[in-house]
Amino acid sequence: MEIQSSIFGISSFGIHNPKTPFFPSKATPLSAPKQVLFKTHFSLSSNLSFTKQTLKVSASVAKVECEIGTINIFEDGLKRKIRKKNLAVFVSGGGSNFKSLHEATVNGFIHGDISVLVTNKPDCGGAEFARDKGIPVISFPKLKDGSGLSSHVLVTALRSYKVDFILLAGFLKLLPAELIKAYPRSILNIHPSLLPAFGGKGYYGMKVHEAVIASGARYSGPTIHYVDEEYDRGRILAQRIVPVLANDTAEELAGRVLHEEHKLYQEVVAALCEDRIIWREDGVPLIQCKENPNLYM
Ligand code: GAR
Repeated sequence: MEIQSSIFGISSFGIHNPKTPFFPSKATPLSAPKQVLFKTHFSLSSNLSFTKQTLKVSASVAKVECEIGTINIFEDGLKRKIRKKNLAVFVSGGGSNFKSLHEATVNGFIHGDISVLVTNKPDCGGAEFARDKGIPVISFPKLKDGSGLSSHVLVTALRSYKVDFILLAGFLKLLPAELIKAYPRSILNIHPSLLPAFGGKGYYGMKVHEAVIASGARYSGPTIHYVDEEYDRGRILAQRIVPVLANDTAEELAGRVLHEEHKLYQEVVAALCEDRIIWREDGVPLIQCKENPNLYM
């Protein structure tokens, strides 16, 4: 018994190890709508985990209704079979990444909706934009004047919005452990340097770019990573390189990095919402290429 398609990188041998080039003999190009027969005895469910020889992979893709039976695959859209996701974006400032993500949800590039915005600065540009667009704004954390939600109530509120993923976009507060535990492998952050360089407490905004220039580094660029209980430390999901030019000011470098941030975050969140994140056996997340599921970014 075997799965006859590697559409999601799943073959009769499980999910192939992205470290090893893999060209399945029965690979079928995604050229036209078609039906793929799943004849497996595997029971595929969310956070699938199984072992074949040395290979052990958790796959978020597997939660896509992979029961015994048939599933329609279309060239232009895993989207048709994948539930639209609810996103919470956390901001502290102008929110240009938030605005860019919002645009991508509106134009359909991201198969998700921004259900709620969370901020520690209720008057910031990001929060104003959200209110303009009719997106609910939650204030977090709790302040001395009594405003803002506690961690516990925040988790409850996010649940009530049925939030699938949390996206930090210039949110400068450390997330509470309770929230991180409530959303395992579901929280992303964007940082404006090539982590692990120029990250951690104190490295935010223009300080990052100043430090990059002062160090003499020739390359910088955004990193998107999963969030754990320390600043800028979780597993890296995606990066993009931006050259540091000889006469760059921090502002000029920041502008070029931010331009790449917007594009990268849109692409990564699109993949996230299409269940195209694959966890390698050593815990590194990879993005499955939409056009060729045997390639990873
Ligand atoms: C972005 O450059 C983001 O990478 C950075 O804050 C900026 C927010 O800009 N985040 C950090 O430094 C996190 N350590 P935005 O509000 O215009 O999206």
